[in-house]
Amino acid sequence: MGKPAPKLAVFISGTGTNLQALIDARKKGKLTAEIALVVSSSPQTGGLSRAKNADIPTFIFEEKKYPSQPVATTALLDKLKEHMIDYIANAGYLKLIAPEIIAAYPDKIINIHPALLPKYGGKGMYGIRVHEAVIAAHEKESGVTFHLVDEKYDHGRILKQIKVPVYEDDTPELLQQRILKEEHKHYPIVINNLIKEKT
Ligand code: GRF
Repeated sequence: MGKPAPKLAVFISGTGTNLQALIDARKKGKLTAEIALVVSSSPQTGGLSRAKNADIPTFIFEEKKYPSQPVATTALLDKLKEHMIDYIANAGYLKLIAPEIIAAYPDKIINIHPALLPKYGGKGMYGIRVHEAVIAAHEKESGVTFHLVDEKYDHGRILKQIKVPVYEDDTPELLQQRILKEEHKHYPIVINNLIKEKT
């Protein structure tokens, strides 16, 4: 018998199309990690039903519902340990990851940002706002950045960047869709490569 697959937790705050791309990649044998847990920052995210349809355990992590930040972080760490999680993939997760979680998963947490960092990143730069800013600045290209997570928003080591063109008559929505397609295609590969690098 071969080595068991490393266990991945996917963190979401939204529709979860990247989560779906990872679930599909795993089904096709194109993701080396098993998606063992989905953590959602709200009970209302569209991504939760994708997890349930794929029989993946879920954990609703609403930090504000805990008496303090350390108590919340401990609850999340305990959940990650309970599911024996090795890696974390942020897929549209909008909350900052606590330093204790980063310390427990050094260079094992990946984030996607829908622009070419270091441009158009940082606090408040998420969702459609990123693409609005890119178009307003008349950029000729944008893209996606896969990077490791450290204690600052959109800051850790860049693992991969994919460029896409920005057209003269583009809308933020069209640009967002063009970039999302690249996210879906490359996220499993980026995760596989990190796992290879770490083992
Ligand atoms: C993506 O654009 C990603 O780059 C950003 O959040 C969005 C998530 O989309 N971090 P989805 O929830 O995976 O559909």
